[in-house]
Amino acid sequence: MSVAYLNGTFLPLAEARISPMDRGFLFADGIYEVIPVYSGTPFRLDEHLTRLERSLAEIQLPAPLARADWPALIDTLISKNGGGNLSLYLQITRGTAAVRDHAFPPPGTPPTVFAMVSPMSAPAADSPDTTPGVAAITVQDIRWLRCDIKSVSLLPNILMRQQAVGAGAAEAIMLRDGHASEGAASNLFIVQHGTVITPPKDQWILGGITRDLVLELCAEHNVPHQEGPVSEAALRGADEIWITSSTREIVPVVTLDGQPLGDGRPGPVWHRVARLYVDFKRRLCGL
Ligand code: PDD
Repeated sequence: MSVAYLNGTFLPLAEARISPMDRGFLFADGIYEVIPVYSGTPFRLDEHLTRLERSLAEIQLPAPLARADWPALIDTLISKNGGGNLSLYLQITRGTAAVRDHAFPPPGTPPTVFAMVSPMSAPAADSPDTTPGVAAITVQDIRWLRCDIKSVSLLPNILMRQQAVGAGAAEAIMLRDGHASEGAASNLFIVQHGTVITPPKDQWILGGITRDLVLELCAEHNVPHQEGPVSEAALRGADEIWITSSTREIVPVVTLDGQPLGDGRPGPVWHRVARLYVDFKRRLCGL
């Protein structure tokens, strides 16, 4: 049975309870992280905790734990669930107030801290020679102006992802003012004439941990790369398109809006970077 963490207690997930007055439930007033775990080791934990603290600061929610206390909580949760390959979800909301009021609850209201794990399936990058790649569609980016905050308020992302699923695609790539921003739950990369390009970290995208690692690996291994705007025309004319996230790692997109990209198979630059990613992951997690 899956073990969860809720406000200081480890307990079976099925027994975890929160109040309907929780501001996460009423207002989606909270933030989250998704941390991949390989062979029991959380991957890029420091980077995830830095982003968690940034999200908390941006929504003016005091951190419920000191930075140094998160790793022990996370390690305990992993070991209580038997280790292995997991996706660890961590959510913090502004807690439970007596009345429903948009304004913040009284200072000192304890935040709700919740964490759980779920099994993680083998990502595409683990088998670069056999992965077929995925289909994606384009949608208008219908989100707010602070996409850089990892907020649990995900209704636009849900609607866009469901549109993709309805079209038989794995991801919706968002367009705003003639530029591609990111996927409904992933960052976006294109390859143009051998150069890997990803939109810059600004208010229109979530600064992905996987995205940063891909850029680091490109820099370290002399793969030409740049952070810069990706126009809709550049997206449609790209030699390769990838999406990245903590749970999916690097996934090659092989059709966009039903049109095959190139020969409809994962491209050579994806193969190279996927191998670099898997090697890095294996080294780091002692696999
Ligand atoms: N989502 N952009 C958005 C909108 C996302 O929701 C995510 C991840 C990313 C990629 O970030 P990272 O590489 O740090 O996972 C980019 C997670 C996986 C989720 O919501 O489940």
